[in-house]
Amino acid sequence: MTVHFIGAGPGAADLVTVRGRNLIAGCPVCLYAGSIIPPEMLSWCPPGARLIDTAPLDLDAIIAELVRAHEAGQDVARLQSGDLSIWSAVGEQLRRLDALDIPYTLTPGVPAFAAAAAALGRELTLPEVAQSVVLTRTSGRASAMPETESLAAFAATRATLAIHLSIHVIDRVVSELTPAYGADCPAAVIWRASWPDERVLRATLGEIAALVKAANLERTALILVGRALGAKAFRESALYSAGYDRRFRPGAAEGSGA
Ligand SMILES: C[S@@+](CC[C@H](N)C(=O)[O-])C[C@H]1O[C@@H](n2cnc3c(N)ncnc32)[C@H](O)[C@@H]1O
Repeated sequence: MTVHFIGAGPGAADLVTVRGRNLIAGCPVCLYAGSIIPPEMLSWCPPGARLIDTAPLDLDAIIAELVRAHEAGQDVARLQSGDLSIWSAVGEQLRRLDALDIPYTLTPGVPAFAAAAAALGRELTLPEVAQSVVLTRTSGRASAMPETESLAAFAATRATLAIHLSIHVIDRVVSELTPAYGADCPAAVIWRASWPDERVLRATLGEIAALVKAANLERTALILVGRALGAKAFRESALYSAGYDRRFRPGAAEGSGA
């Protein structure tokens, strides 16, 4: 028996990996996070599978379900939103399973920030404009931010920022970022990226908060900020340039770095 943690992606059912889908189809028990897992995904469970919505469950109750399946010798598909590596509370579940000696696997998923970039139709890193993406959040009821991870500290890098779990404090986000990025810096809010009702708001940093309020967007939204969101006059990447020596393009000139 194995618990398979599966990154279920940002919302659209067909954005789960093939491996994830196969695992779902092979597990007689499925634990899923209610409002953020598309119903179609649950239809891939085998007939008669036990489906458990974890929305009303605390960690003890979730682990009790996993222990129950373990004792019955039944594999579990544990579906979580986006990818498992960020804000998924997988760490604490794995720690409990380690202590109980219950085996598990992890299958990555499409993270929300990647779906948001796709919805926007932009690359988040551009040569000489931004070469880093910071995945961050603001402090919430459940988690305080470590002292060194303030928005102002990340803003000092002027990297592209993907700010999660923060749409309700958009005013604070704007005021903390404006000194470093400038009010004219491109910003976007992507609400429910990849869901049928997805919404994309584009504006400057100075104007984005008013748009968010007018649209009345709450909860499942990502805030993207950075010059890469609007840059047009950026240098082309060396990766595909005619003069760049690549292993599979013999004959091109020597060079290094993308
Ligand atoms: C608890 S975190 C989960 C992140 C997830 N593990 C991932 O890989 O993206 C939830 C936050 O992710 C963002 N998010 C998740 N799904 C999203 C989507 N479809 N569209 C926009 N933002 C989303 C929102 O900022 C939301 O508040």
